[in-house]
Amino acid sequence: MMQKDGCGACHAVDKKIVGPAYQDVAAKYKGDAGALAKLSQKVKTGGAGVWGPVPMPPNPQVADGDIKALVSWILTLKK
Ligand code: HEC
Repeated sequence: MMQKDGCGACHAVDKKIVGPAYQDVAAKYKGDAGALAKLSQKVKTGGAGVWGPVPMPPNPQVADGDIKALVSWILTLKK
């Protein structure tokens, strides 16, 4: 799903590409109960400033259900 939705062009599980490694995202939001909602919103509409100056473009083509599934999966990737 991650490849199909184009996320893999900028993200990998264990290393930074254009965007942060998903393991680092999981570590950052560990214990944050609002993370799923917050990150789902951000993946859909894009945003910048959390990990550096490079923005993530919006991903409006990705279905809401897919985004939720992706973010839930990302949040399980603790090191
Ligand atoms: C064109 C490159 C690009 C694509 C495509 C992309 N991202 Fe990102 N992503 C980034 C960048 C750059 C950041 C860091 C933004 C920041 O610093 O706030 C980021 C940040 C994130 C974050 C952390 C947000 C935060 O506020 O901490 C998540 C989660 C994420 N991306 C998931 C995804 C998912 C899921 C997809 C596919 C639907 C995706 N990204 C597609 C570049 C991309």
